[in-house]
Amino acid sequence: MYSCPTPSPLSAKFEGSFAYDTVKDRLPVILTKTIDTVHKCISSYEDKFGEDGANDVKSVVGQLSKLRSEMMTDKPLNDFRDDLKDTEKWNAALERLKQDEDHTPSHFKSPWLFVECAMYRQITSILQNSKFMKDFDPFCQQKSVALEKSMSGASVLLQYLQKYLALGDNGVDLARYFEIFLKASLWSNKFDLSLSAGVSHDPGSHDPVQVMSSLEEYILADETDEIFQCLSKIQTSAAKDVRVDIVLDNAGFEFLSDLCLAEFLLQSKLAQKIHFHIKNMPWFISDVTSKDVDYTLKQMTSSSDCTLSEFGKRWQSRLVDKSFIIVPEHLCQYWTLPSSYTDMQHLDESLYEYLAQSDLVIFKGDLNFRKLVADLSWSSDTPFKNALGAFHPSPLCSLRTLKADVVVGLKSGRDLEAEKDDANWMVTGKYAVVLFDA
Ligand code: F6P
Ligand code: MG
Repeated sequence: MYSCPTPSPLSAKFEGSFAYDTVKDRLPVILTKTIDTVHKCISSYEDKFGEDGANDVKSVVGQLSKLRSEMMTDKPLNDFRDDLKDTEKWNAALERLKQDEDHTPSHFKSPWLFVECAMYRQITSILQNSKFMKDFDPFCQQKSVALEKSMSGASVLLQYLQKYLALGDNGVDLARYFEIFLKASLWSNKFDLSLSAGVSHDPGSHDPVQVMSSLEEYILADETDEIFQCLSKIQTSAAKDVRVDIVLDNAGFEFLSDLCLAEFLLQSKLAQKIHFHIKNMPWFISDVTSKDVDYTLKQMTSSSDCTLSEFGKRWQSRLVDKSFIIVPEHLCQYWTLPSSYTDMQHLDESLYEYLAQSDLVIFKGDLNFRKLVADLSWSSDTPFKNALGAFHPSPLCSLRTLKADVVVGLKSGRDLEAEKDDANWMVTGKYAVVLFDA
């Protein structure tokens, strides 16, 4: 039986850790860019709403600057003072933190997961308390640039999908195609905007499938086959529709790749329904909100590239016939709380039960992984199941490129090999894991 001492939460209190660098350098840069974006709105809000509009934007700038300086000088974490649907839950989580810690919770002393999530939630709070900027997404521009740069790569991936569709059922190596679309979805997680503090990297117009085959050696644990077996088994035994849930991460190339995976699952009849979980507020810069879903499909349908426009239309119609479902807002609240998933069953029973009706839940990206394993400093050979704790609504998997210094599910010694190759192996998105829990 595997056993390990209870690990501690990642925190900026450990100088030199990635959490420390993030709170010290990266988050203040993200806040500075957010302040600049809002500041640029002064004149347009003045034109639209007069002096009242300009003052409103200036007040948002002032509050964001205060948040930035409080973070940089390690001030206590503030309560949430707004009337959003999750405000009580956030304040209760802060209260629990106060009880658990023998000091006042603060940016550099408290668990990194809480601190980082709280920054994005406070940005939303400031905007919500404004008069004219309630629906303003400060990351909208960055997401739309990233989407623009992703279109040609996505078009190449869609051509693989067309090739698969053209083959019909004749002797197709289903497992091989499954691997192509699952791994495209995995590696597309490299392109989040929060690691780069908002700078979008161009996934390029290279053939993503060829690029991916050169990345195999960087997958530290690969349970793709177990995931395929799980779905194939359900497909042959189920008398009902097979449902796959995707807990989405980033807009742009990642969301497009996730949609390709979803389309493949439907076309291959491995699943009949795909439920997409989104964020209810701007989150970690690039995470998908409902506006991003609409915008992505609109950009695709109006593209001059006929592959993109054809699939854009198809996916819009899937939202109508409900083979694609965007999970309703009240069930997406938990994704923007600071809580780990092991606590979901008692903190949000309805979401836990919703996930329990799925045949496979796919968790995308780094932050979802951190929440799956409670953002604790596990030893890398901890079995995934142990790190999940009480969280097991359904069979689930995590597709994640490593962008934080926590990993589990590796064979013993694999961490040392990666370390030898690259001292920053845990935090740059160069390495990845595909982990499955039946
Ligand atoms: O800033 C910290 C962080 O959680 C990193 O761990 C990661 O790079 C990023 O934010 C979010 O990554 P993802 O979009 O993959 O969840
Ligand atoms: Mg993200």
